[in-house]
Amino acid sequence: MLENKPLAVVTASTAGIGLSAAMALAKSGMHVVVSSRKAENVSQAVALINDAYGPDAASGIPCHVGNKANREALVAFAASRSAHIRALVLNAAVSTAYGPIFNISEDQWDKMFDINLKAAFFLVKDFNDMLTAGSSVTFITSIAAYNPIPGLGAYSITKTALLGMCKTLSVELARDGIRVNAIAPGLIQTKFSEKLWKHKDQGKGEAMESNKISKFLHIPMRRIGMPNDIGGVVAFLVSEDAAYITGETIVVAGGITSKL
Ligand SMILES: NC(=O)c1ccc[n+]([C@@H]2O[C@H](COP(=O)([O-])OP(=O)(O)OC[C@H]3O[C@@H](n4cnc5c(N)ncnc54)[C@H](OP(=O)(O)O)[C@@H]3O)[C@@H](O)[C@H]2O)c1
Repeated sequence: MLENKPLAVVTASTAGIGLSAAMALAKSGMHVVVSSRKAENVSQAVALINDAYGPDAASGIPCHVGNKANREALVAFAASRSAHIRALVLNAAVSTAYGPIFNISEDQWDKMFDINLKAAFFLVKDFNDMLTAGSSVTFITSIAAYNPIPGLGAYSITKTALLGMCKTLSVELARDGIRVNAIAPGLIQTKFSEKLWKHKDQGKGEAMESNKISKFLHIPMRRIGMPNDIGGVVAFLVSEDAAYITGETIVVAGGITSKL
């Protein structure tokens, strides 16, 4: 069991936004339980965080969030660390279909809703007994929740639905002093979004420069985001500084318009 550190659990936290969130939470003094599907990725991320913030900064377990047994193992692993969880960050998502929305198969639809919504909901449910007054839940949604991305229609629907889940759970859990919020990143340079930012430059076969992409995507700040643009916002939302914020979604998208 952990002696002094509050516990954080971040799903899909071995790369990109999830890893950045895990690093930021470890930096703020929490012990972070890291997880993702592949054991070697988990080991690497745990080593990286412990190298940066000390041997008690992180531990980890593989967890494919779409797998019920894996989710239960994650809960049991976290419970072996601490009876209470201060921060639960639901970051895992998948995009299974690209193209006109009616080209999607039922399997592709089900998988996207299973990972992006159902798994996030049931993880909150499964961790509910470990959430106490002062705990918080943070969903990672997307700017696509507000502005559907062409070709990613069903993915965009799952992310809009997450806004609703955030609102509903925030009301349900507020009476226990548990806050529920979300972050909607814009285009962030990770493997997940490679197809969006690795546009070919007029057939030259080179990646477009950041400011060219941002013009193409109408990003007022004229750059795409980096994972570290999100990690600190997660740390803020779970901190005491955000003690009166619940049911909200913070858009972190370089100024891209966001309105439902
Ligand atoms: N990048 C963007 O532009 C952007 C914008 C808006 C929102 N988002 C959202 O940000 C979140 C993270 O995306 P990212 O861009 O950071 O992705 P990323 O850099 O590609 O990282 C994905 C992470 O998820 C893990 N993972 C994938 N499938 C998983 C599953 N079924 N269960 C558990 N872990 C899984 C991967 O590790 P393993 O391979 O080991 O599983 C990896 O650690 C997603 O919710 C995404 O929708 C991203």
